[in-house]
Amino acid sequence: MLNSSIKILKFFPPELAHTITINALKFFNFNLDKIDDPILSQHLIGLDFPNPIGLAAGFDKNAEVVKSMFSLGFGFVEVGTITPIPQVGNLKPRIFRLEKDQAVINSLGFNNKGSKKVKKNISKIKNSFARNKIIGVNIGKNKNSKNSIDDYLYGMEELGALASYITINISSPNTEGLRDLQLRGNIEKLIKKIIKKREEIESINKKPIIIKISPDLNDDQLRDIALISLANNIDGLILTNTTTSRPNNLQFNKKINNGGLSGKPLFKISNNVLKKMYNLTNGQITLIGVGGISSGSDCYEKIKSGASLVQIYTALTFEGPLLVSKIKNELINLIKTDGYKNITDVVGKSV
Ligand SMILES: Cc1cc2nc3c(=O)[nH]c(=O)nc-3n(C[C@H](O)[C@H](O)[C@H](O)COP(=O)(O)O)c2cc1C
Repeated sequence: MLNSSIKILKFFPPELAHTITINALKFFNFNLDKIDDPILSQHLIGLDFPNPIGLAAGFDKNAEVVKSMFSLGFGFVEVGTITPIPQVGNLKPRIFRLEKDQAVINSLGFNNKGSKKVKKNISKIKNSFARNKIIGVNIGKNKNSKNSIDDYLYGMEELGALASYITINISSPNTEGLRDLQLRGNIEKLIKKIIKKREEIESINKKPIIIKISPDLNDDQLRDIALISLANNIDGLILTNTTTSRPNNLQFNKKINNGGLSGKPLFKISNNVLKKMYNLTNGQITLIGVGGISSGSDCYEKIKSGASLVQIYTALTFEGPLLVSKIKNELINLIKTDGYKNITDVVGKSV
């Protein structure tokens, strides 16, 4: 039934297919949220992760289907990106499915219902089933904001207390100027203000702060981010967001210059960034590997490349809801076959 639903959805334009999926998921419980093999469990950034597979930001921007996503077996779910005030995003069409490449190009531009509405949604979830679940809240800035840093500080104030961890997204390619926040002077100023804000507000002063970065940074920029993150005790880095590059071997022949590419073609690109960052941070910061994961062995490779946790988005839309359970089973087999006692022993082994 599930597989035939996925096949039918392919006949709809991708954004409509996503809206249909989100609306259907509001009423769905997959019952795949079984107790995980302890070989997959880790204590990181002050939280107990039952397994390392998370839902990446962008799938559930408004925290509408968190319960269903946990019922697929995810170890953690990241909602957002959420901006202070609601916004519609960029002009449509803005999602393209690259079927043969198992990839997506999107130029959504942070379409979301805004922090007030999403706050209500997360509160409901927290008060019902998800008290002990790990929910990351990914925050961003509005397109027309006058002061980008203030938008992040506002996001922390509004949503931080409800978050298990807070992700500062400065790497989406679809909001003009956003990625510039990753550059040395800018990111230093941003991180210092974020850390100060966390210290000031009691309800968030223990919340882990994670920065999500782009796969399109050069080596100097990666080094700057590593040094600034280490110096300011940033808890984690998510590597990576979508890429604005278009690898030569894409089979998709339409020229779509705007937007970020995700899925299979991003796998190697984001792994390279992950390995570099693992070296630059000496394994001292928790790294979350994202980009092109569609199997247990992809996941294993990310972990060997330095990720303690991983996240998935695009493959879920191609493979369907059973993917998470499949990946966990494959991962357990790989860890056991190689003779490791726990997933933690695998982290960074090939760097
Ligand atoms: C349609 C779409 C929307 C996305 N929206 C967001 C977003 O709002 N915030 C964010 O941090 N990342 C967003 N992402 C990026 C993903 O979280 C992830 O970093 C990227 O897609 C790479 O993982 P994947 O190859 O498994 O999809 C989006 C990705 C897609 C495909």
